[in-house]
Amino acid sequence: SRAVVLVSGRGRNLQALLAARAAGTLPLNITRVITNRPGIPALDIAARASVPGTVLQPKGFSSRAAFDAELARHVAAENPDWVVLAGYMRILDSAFVQQFAGRLVNIHPSLLPRHRGLDTHRRALAAGDARHGATVHLVTADLDAGPGILQGSIAVAAQDTPTSLADRVMHQVETRIYPQALGWLASGRVDFADGRVRMDNRPL
Ligand code: GRF
Repeated sequence: SRAVVLVSGRGRNLQALLAARAAGTLPLNITRVITNRPGIPALDIAARASVPGTVLQPKGFSSRAAFDAELARHVAAENPDWVVLAGYMRILDSAFVQQFAGRLVNIHPSLLPRHRGLDTHRRALAAGDARHGATVHLVTADLDAGPGILQGSIAVAAQDTPTSLADRVMHQVETRIYPQALGWLASGRVDFADGRVRMDNRPL
């Protein structure tokens, strides 16, 4: 199936998806990467994999709604089965979320419903959490509260800092669970009837 990936930063999740695609373990054709920030590493990662990139900057738009409507036009032009948020650091307005409802997916760096929003690694440490991780979920109008698809976790160590924790969550959890969850979605193994997630667990 076809996917558009929205990014704003380093692109480590994007890289993991492209690597899984290249290895033949993820049946997802990433047709375009779109970002709100010029010059980010994620764009170079896309270019190295020959995936076209589009930079669409919010400045010059009169409102979030106007920007997100233009973003939606660029996304819809790709006819995507999946719209994948991979470190896209802007909140999407409700019209965008509605337009792509049921095919808009995000990865959030915490064990949702714990630590919605920003600064999750620092907050997990401050709360004394024994485990921390990341969650792949469907995006709904409620920020970081859509139905969960897959979660992965690691143990928090006594000497962890927000940076060391973020690195381990990225390398040991995010880069594993995002390709896995998108593979399930792309192969039609996940069903979202009545806001609930159901897995078809026929063998791979
Ligand atoms: C990841 O931790 C992701 O969960 C969060 O932003 C970060 C993006 O990193 N939403 P990258 O751009 O994939 O390297």
